[in-house]
Amino acid sequence: MHRVAALLLFSSLVPAQTIQYSEARKVWLINSAHSAYAMGIDAQGQLQHLYWGGPLWSIDDVPAAAERPEISSFDPHQMYENEEFPGWGGPRFYEPALKITRADGDRDLVLHYVSHEIHGDTLDITLNDIRDDIEAVLHYRSDAQTGILARSATIRNNTRQPITIESAQSATWYLPAGEGYRLSYLSGRWAAETQLNREPIQEGMKVLESRLGESGHNLNPWFSIDRDADEDHGAVWFGALAWSGNWRITVEQTPYRQVRLTGGFNTFDFAYVLKPGESLETPVFYGGFAQNGFGEASRLLASLERARIAPGGAAAPLRPVLYNSWEATEFNVSEEGQKELAAKAAKLGVELFVIDDGWFGKRNNDHAGLGDWTPNPQKFPHGLESLIDYVNSLGMDFGLWVEPEMVNPNSDLYRAHPDWVMNFPGRPRSELRNQLILNLARDDVRDHIFDVLDKLASAYKIKYFKWDMNRIFSEPGWPEAPVAEQKELWVKYVWNYYDILRRLREKHPGLSIESCSGGGGRVDLGVLRYVDEFWTSDNTEAFDRLRIQEGFSQAYAARFMSAWVTDVPNTNHRSTPLEYRFLVAMQGALGIGANLNKWTPEDVNLATKMIALYKQIRGAVQNGNLYRLLSPREHDVTANEYVSEHGDTAVLFAFRHSQQYSTPAPSIRLRGLEPHTLYRLESTDGKLLPNQTGLSGAYLMQNGVNLNLTDDYDSTLVVLHRQQ
Ligand code: DGJ
Repeated sequence: MHRVAALLLFSSLVPAQTIQYSEARKVWLINSAHSAYAMGIDAQGQLQHLYWGGPLWSIDDVPAAAERPEISSFDPHQMYENEEFPGWGGPRFYEPALKITRADGDRDLVLHYVSHEIHGDTLDITLNDIRDDIEAVLHYRSDAQTGILARSATIRNNTRQPITIESAQSATWYLPAGEGYRLSYLSGRWAAETQLNREPIQEGMKVLESRLGESGHNLNPWFSIDRDADEDHGAVWFGALAWSGNWRITVEQTPYRQVRLTGGFNTFDFAYVLKPGESLETPVFYGGFAQNGFGEASRLLASLERARIAPGGAAAPLRPVLYNSWEATEFNVSEEGQKELAAKAAKLGVELFVIDDGWFGKRNNDHAGLGDWTPNPQKFPHGLESLIDYVNSLGMDFGLWVEPEMVNPNSDLYRAHPDWVMNFPGRPRSELRNQLILNLARDDVRDHIFDVLDKLASAYKIKYFKWDMNRIFSEPGWPEAPVAEQKELWVKYVWNYYDILRRLREKHPGLSIESCSGGGGRVDLGVLRYVDEFWTSDNTEAFDRLRIQEGFSQAYAARFMSAWVTDVPNTNHRSTPLEYRFLVAMQGALGIGANLNKWTPEDVNLATKMIALYKQIRGAVQNGNLYRLLSPREHDVTANEYVSEHGDTAVLFAFRHSQQYSTPAPSIRLRGLEPHTLYRLESTDGKLLPNQTGLSGAYLMQNGVNLNLTDDYDSTLVVLHRQQ
């Protein structure tokens, strides 16, 4: 049969999305157009993982779960069976999904199948300890569009004694048996976040984690695994943990050629007490499968984020072009100064004007004021209203920076409530950036913070909060809680953080929120349920940004990537042309963070033109499909293409870093176009070489476009319009 016809036939046989169960063979199959996932119960009642990969069309294909024979007294069968959610008990020594201690010291936990329920796209499987009524309900929700599974677990103590949970994981994932896998993950630090790493998986364990109290700059809770994939080809398994606190993903390869991943709450300093009748819900761990390389994996995840995770779903409005005054004025904020910047920003076409740090309390530097969230009367003698009205009269919305979890010891709040910060009594309270952290695990602190933000959002016409967090945890003590429960701070802090965000959005539906933590310290799918954007990095230098953004794009959609154009020389002393800086930032949610008072008339003209251009293409960038064509890690040209949701527009961004020997830039082959459709190519800067105005998708994808990128830090943008 002709290959295309065979594929069409196959895809028409694949049920759109189903969760099937075979009672006879005790097997579940979760199927979608992109992937399939299967589990089964063995003769002993253990839930075994059976399949994770491309779509299947028959549940009969999946063999029933079988017990394995013992190899030796050192290799019991439990060590090479793939238990879907292993408790720590019996001879099991890989990373468990659940580990507990009972009140009498008994720590053995063996989980067997009890029952299950299927409701539409969700499956719940209940496991119970073989002796005690300690229950783990495994939740699976399958997304029809992307095939991505959302997994989590509810642990319930139905016994009459308390238990202490030492490890509660959201999911264990198994790759098809075998070796030769590679792990991709994102690492970094402040001002150098989301750097992409790719390395072989070998025997032993690799730990990706945060112990910092937030998801962190150092490692991001995302992974992908492949054997031989590239951007466009090959099988890729990927996942992301939706948690903004201490998280952990372990990647193990066993001596039996099995790769397994386990992720959930970090076990570091973890203890959670479940009294009789209480339960604990783990974060969601998303997992998906792509048949066509890293590019498809990113596009599937991005589309899930836009449609199913972020506020507003697929109908969310496009992100506005914002101006943020931080890099221009830092703490030197005044009504007059901000008005001057606002007037200039409005002329450029900016839609949202944001005052950053320095507007409140005695905040003249980073030594004082955090905690005292009232406008500084010297800086705003007519109140914030006067500035907000002015900003609104210029046709822009108004946004405000806050850092509500933090307090300077030099603040009225700290003087009134020194007990509100996390601390171990009688021991030092380590200051970082001269600030301490309020113990948000306390409900009174949570309510205070909600109140502060609610009052601001009610009193002023605020359309946007930039919620910042500028330090990591230390001395995470909670002296008011019973000793056995004090470590719950790690978890309850994050729940209360989410609770504030949720309540704020509920009460102020027009409000949007950016998650910032000194740049990208709190970028994860947990907080994405409540925020509209992430502040990607404090490093706004355009060339560095290309790599930061490349890493970010592996795991997060462009619409959530806040990106500013700032002045040069920047943090790393590099200077790049203004057009280059614009084009880099236009690949996400565009912002301007420059000191507009220093801009020349030429800068203003160029910026006005670029912002207008951005408004034309932002639909494709923010809600379209990204194709990473050339990576800054591998080439002297970086190229990214965004194809709009319905395929009518495509936007190509290309950047030359440093040319040598006057070698021409390579032809750039596009992706994601319709081969038989004609596209009109539009370039406003003359860098598209001649005779390329109307070309077919087939030609553009096979031969590519030729660009006149000759200088260091040269850049261009080409817009492609589908011809009817
Ligand atoms: C860190 C943020 O990442 C910056 O953008 C800025 O808001 C500063 N904090 C303000 O203190």
